[in-house]
Amino acid sequence: MRTTVGIIGGGPAGLLLARLLHRADIDCVVLEARAREYVEQRQRAGMLEQGTVDALREAGAADRLTAEGLVHQGIELRFARERHHIDFPALTGGRTVTIYAQTEIVKDLVALQLDGGPPLLFEAEALAVEKAESEAPVVRYLHEGREQTLTCDWVAGCDGFHGISRGVFPEGSARAYAREYPYSWLGIMAEVAPSCDELIYARGERGFALHSMRSPTVSRLYLQVPNGTDAGDWPDDRVWDELAARFAIDADWTLARGPVTAKSVTAMRSYVHEPMRHGRLLLAGDAAHIVPPTGAKGLNLAVADVRVLARALIAAQRTGDTQLLDRYSELCLQRVWQVTRFSDDMTKMLHAQPDGDAFDHRMQLARLRRITASRHAAAELAVNYSGLPLSL
Ligand code: APR
Ligand code: PHB
Repeated sequence: MRTTVGIIGGGPAGLLLARLLHRADIDCVVLEARAREYVEQRQRAGMLEQGTVDALREAGAADRLTAEGLVHQGIELRFARERHHIDFPALTGGRTVTIYAQTEIVKDLVALQLDGGPPLLFEAEALAVEKAESEAPVVRYLHEGREQTLTCDWVAGCDGFHGISRGVFPEGSARAYAREYPYSWLGIMAEVAPSCDELIYARGERGFALHSMRSPTVSRLYLQVPNGTDAGDWPDDRVWDELAARFAIDADWTLARGPVTAKSVTAMRSYVHEPMRHGRLLLAGDAAHIVPPTGAKGLNLAVADVRVLARALIAAQRTGDTQLLDRYSELCLQRVWQVTRFSDDMTKMLHAQPDGDAFDHRMQLARLRRITASRHAAAELAVNYSGLPLSL
């Protein structure tokens, strides 16, 4: 097979890139290793920056998002048994955020692509990218029991943290920056109406907790737990009790409980791969970077990469102008490092540090107090959380 852009990975990055290229009449092929059912039910993020909503609207992929997305005017911070609303529009000149699950974004993009869009091959695992430095790189992939090849002008590595794309970079041509955090998140999905209209980020005495949601009838909650925690050691009642303790405030509020339909433990890391391009292979999304979920940035950063990559590829194909492509890595990494710093900072501010002491806890509370007392400090959080403007 031959195409202009070979896209490895049918997650949000690969699917959105395919959609944007297709609307610009640039042919592409998406190779996704897993089955459609798998990628559509994979529970991931749910918080969209305004820029992500705008990108999906520009891609003509936001009908359901517009109808079902929950627009939020901010978040709630809780600490020392107090609650504080951070007012995004007031602090950012009008920006809001939207709750709409990544699973739904993937379903919307898959449906659009299968309805007259470019080829989307499921259970098509890319095995290698060859001749990445040539003008005709080749993706070797396994599909329907046969090894096949896809010859391209460009290859987009949208294959996530566990993909093959980073392995294409020759030894010594790239550098990775990584940080493993000394705690994990135990996440539950529960069939119960959210107990608050907004997301609640809580620094309880015993650690962090997050109250999020998927719809007016489904709550999504997370609990800081030690690394290596087995979800089996956390029966539902224990999860609810610990969440209630960490969200507790001196006001009339209770955490509603309901049937838990999913429970899992996720480790937390920061990871940045530099550069994000080798020859005609360009990385986008989790293939190039991972952020801890505290800042709700993983999906939004993937979308930001793809907005730059799509514009760069379209310019190169339409006019031969490769300036944007030549600056792709530099442009994306500017945002990647800002978002990585913000996510790392939110994480350290809100989680009990296992090797920390009472002084460290007081430092965290002092920072939280500063954010809720100072418009400047609150604005810095609101501007980063709701999404830095795209550099382009
Ligand atoms: N060949 C083909 N597809 C592959 C291969 C391969 N060798 N390796 C991985 N994939 C697929 C995975 O099955 C997955 O569907 O690439 C896709 C990568 O998707 P994501 O991991 O979702 O990454 P991305 O599209 O960058 O989206 C980032 O997803 O992981 C979350 O928190 C992250 O919200 C963020 C978002
Ligand atoms: C989620 O709803 O899954 C979510 C929201 C905000 C975060 C992390 C996860 O920071």
